[in-house]
Amino acid sequence: MRFSDPAVAAVHADYERRRTEEMARQAAMGGAMLARRDEFLLPVGPEVGAFLHSLILARRPARILELGTSYGYSTLFLADAARQVGGILITMDLADYKQAEARTQIERAGLGGVVDFRLGDAVALIDADPGPFDFVLLDIWKDLYVLCLEAFHPKLSDEAIVAADNMIEPDIARPDARAYRAAVRALSDMQSALLPIGSGIELSVKWRAASSKL
Ligand SMILES: C[S@@+](CC[C@H](N)C(=O)[O-])C[C@H]1O[C@@H](n2cnc3c(N)ncnc32)[C@H](O)[C@@H]1O
Repeated sequence: MRFSDPAVAAVHADYERRRTEEMARQAAMGGAMLARRDEFLLPVGPEVGAFLHSLILARRPARILELGTSYGYSTLFLADAARQVGGILITMDLADYKQAEARTQIERAGLGGVVDFRLGDAVALIDADPGPFDFVLLDIWKDLYVLCLEAFHPKLSDEAIVAADNMIEPDIARPDARAYRAAVRALSDMQSALLPIGSGIELSVKWRAASSKL
């Protein structure tokens, strides 16, 4: 997608250059990559980024929550959309050096005014926030997805959207991805579907009368 703001577009182009270079490096590393995963963006990718951006423009959420800032790739999409609809983005990560770099890039893009960077364990940080959350991107380590869902679900507004990444890649059958899909689909007020875009998004909507499941 093309960002209309030149400052945002310039930062996005830098992220895309880094993403392309990292993809080649990761392919060369093979299995050794996992031990060094914190060096990499581990981004949602351009397709999911554009999809989330569009969803925010359509849904116009006031408070957006991002779980997994990393180096700020997805943060850029969410923050640009948040600014366009007059919302704010709260983004959480455990790694100070990653979030510091994300902050530098977001400020360079001129989006610092709409992003609230929070450093620490996501579950504790969610517990400390009164909510509500109108839109959530869930993209931290996958064994934390169910714990995060349990923490933010009571704070979701009606018709809130939750997008959970990596539901198909790297492995649709991995136990933590399956456990998340089962947990979100078991909630009586959530409608959910698995979308084959990027690494696979489980897209869930809080729906007061979600008695008829998809
Ligand atoms: C897949 S990356 C996020 C990628 C980012 N959303 C993007 O598209 O560029 C996952 C991130 O989750 C963070 N993380 C892992 N455990 C965490 C925790 N307990 N609390 C907060 N963040 C955590 C990692 O530091 C890492 O940066």
